[in-house]
Amino acid sequence: MPPLNLKGRYTLITGASAGLGREMARDIAKRFGGNLVLVARRRDRLEELAKELEGLGVEAVCITADLSKPEDVERLLREATDGRDIYAAILNAGVTYFGRHLELPRETAQSILATNVHSVIELANGFVRHQLDKQLGGGVLVVSSMAGTVPTPYQALYSGTKAMLNTWGVAFGEELVGTNVSLSVFCPGGIATEMGEKSGTARKYKKGDVGMMDADVCARSAVDGFVARKRFNVPGVLYKLSDFFARFAPRGVLASVQANIFKGALLPEGQKQS
Ligand SMILES: NC(=O)c1ccc[n+]([C@@H]2O[C@H](COP(=O)([O-])OP(=O)(O)OC[C@H]3O[C@@H](n4cnc5c(N)ncnc54)[C@H](OP(=O)(O)O)[C@@H]3O)[C@@H](O)[C@H]2O)c1
Repeated sequence: MPPLNLKGRYTLITGASAGLGREMARDIAKRFGGNLVLVARRRDRLEELAKELEGLGVEAVCITADLSKPEDVERLLREATDGRDIYAAILNAGVTYFGRHLELPRETAQSILATNVHSVIELANGFVRHQLDKQLGGGVLVVSSMAGTVPTPYQALYSGTKAMLNTWGVAFGEELVGTNVSLSVFCPGGIATEMGEKSGTARKYKKGDVGMMDADVCARSAVDGFVARKRFNVPGVLYKLSDFFARFAPRGVLASVQANIFKGALLPEGQKQS
């Protein structure tokens, strides 16, 4: 299958108002001359980014959607494909909760599952069907996490949602072999973004620390792997090695190593984590 050709075609990116999503949008505009459909809840941020990207000579459309809501996911699919071919879709929006699993409020848990899992499956199904029906020869990228490969205490539910994406994404991608549409999974480790600030992990791991990739560097790797239609792409030597060795280590040992890494960012028992 030939690599993706993003030039002059639309790539939709969820979670484009911040972090990795925003950097992938910039990268696609700058290096590939691709048009963008930018999706998130914060409209002002999307419009600011759209203006910046249009200054680079590409088209940028903003769609506001709360992906924890099934009705918004359905509307996004309709609005994005109404009179427009979505040649590529990057399903990047994701949320975490940092803290002891039993302290995770029920509504927060449901929102994490809806955003990280249900919306990704619905959108992947929708965009793959759209690309097959219209013979676009495009692709879908699912942004997962090393937390889905290595069981990660204090982000247990997040870790589980990403494990689901890793396995489902590669399995679904295999079913598409032989068609002209690809589904790829991107699996980064730590990235210096708002996510760490919002969740509290930044109390321990910040920009510049070993294992924390800069968002623009990580974005470049994500986009390159996507264009090359890599099935499962782990960025950076450290995380490539972790991904390799994690296959041989007992899962309990991996969880214990992760617990020791993250426990330093926990607040005392009973205090709200985020
Ligand atoms: N940061 C890390 O260390 C790390 C490591 C591995 C994998 N990842 C994965 O990388 C992806 C991007 O994370 P990031 O670090 O860039 O996080 P971030 O800076 O917190 O950005 C998250 C993006 O998702 C959007 N989003 C969150 N909830 C949403 C909802 N309900 N509806 C629509 N959009 C929503 C946010 O936009 P609005 O708030 O404007 O809606 C924002 O644009 C995620 O899937 C994350 O799991 C991150």
